[in-house]
Amino acid sequence: MLGVWEMEFFDSAKSALNRMAEVRFDVMVTDMQMPEMTGADLINETRRLHPGTIRLILSGHADRDLIMACVGSAHQCLAKPCDPELLKATVARAACLQRTLQNTALNEHLTRLDRLPSVPTLYAEIVQRLQSPDVTMGDLAEVVAKDAAMTVGVLKLANSAFFGLGRTLSDPAEAISYLGSDVLQGLVVSHHIFQYCTPLAGDESFLDNLMTHSTRVSSLAGLIARAERMPNVQTGEALVSGLLHDIGRLILAAVYPKAYSLVNQRREPPISLGSREVQVFGATHAEVGGYLLGLWGLPDPVVDAVTLHHHPVAGNTMEFTALTAVHVAEALLEKEAGEGEGISFPYLDSLELTHRVPVWEDLLSSVAVA
Ligand SMILES: [Fe+2]
Ligand SMILES: [Fe+2]
Repeated sequence: MLGVWEMEFFDSAKSALNRMAEVRFDVMVTDMQMPEMTGADLINETRRLHPGTIRLILSGHADRDLIMACVGSAHQCLAKPCDPELLKATVARAACLQRTLQNTALNEHLTRLDRLPSVPTLYAEIVQRLQSPDVTMGDLAEVVAKDAAMTVGVLKLANSAFFGLGRTLSDPAEAISYLGSDVLQGLVVSHHIFQYCTPLAGDESFLDNLMTHSTRVSSLAGLIARAERMPNVQTGEALVSGLLHDIGRLILAAVYPKAYSLVNQRREPPISLGSREVQVFGATHAEVGGYLLGLWGLPDPVVDAVTLHHHPVAGNTMEFTALTAVHVAEALLEKEAGEGEGISFPYLDSLELTHRVPVWEDLLSSVAVA
């Protein structure tokens, strides 16, 4: 896939910046330790001068402090030594995401904005630790413990995912080992975006409603995954995808507060929220959310669940995944509120799961109205 893209290599940050002034680049990958100008400065400068270019860090463990100095401006960090295949896949995926959005009117707005949240520091630190082969759950818990609200979030999610244990988990390291690192990454991101976007989006009832809605979709998606006897990892993915599924709405509301509040208010059927978003922004909240999560390198099942939660048939999986759980949970909760487009039966038919709908409907009563 990379073959169709052109690559250029530079021996200093200055020459890279000079070239970027002449030609538009989709993706930029930089080391941290360089003569004259550090990788951190290059990342920050690129963000300022070329916000539409995706910025990746490829660096060694010793550069941790430097990375932390610019992580707010980078989209993803990869540790050295890096498997060339992983590097190729990451760059190809980033370029692909970039080009997908280039075809929409939204891209014009998004690339000019520096309000779009960058990768959270805590998240980058967790990903960095995960890239070390001898990382322990205790190490991850140590990072999480830097943020008290995050620690509470981890314990809450683990206890809701695994209440079948017969006891309450109170040790973050143990909770993380149950949840798995993919879920932990998703949880950190959800926590960050809700915190980051809150002051920007302004309208408190919108934020509270979205938070409540996301928590309910997450709980129901987790119950559905458990009812289908999914393993812990997939149950965790369903829970975290539920928390993140409408994150694109939060981002749109934060970036375009006035326009989005109008889009959000006009709820007259038969035009769905997604169609109204396309009319105004050129993309749906599902696409915007999936784009950002993909850019940050979240696990594929979570990115797919977020991107396709309103149109699951567009995915090509033929089995129960986090997407199934989130799509059904969202549709059932919206139906209860007299909204939404309902369950996609062609999708459930293709999975041969339509007969399970009454079982999932029964789970609705277990999801508290907060
Ligand atoms: Fe939703
Ligand atoms: Fe949605």
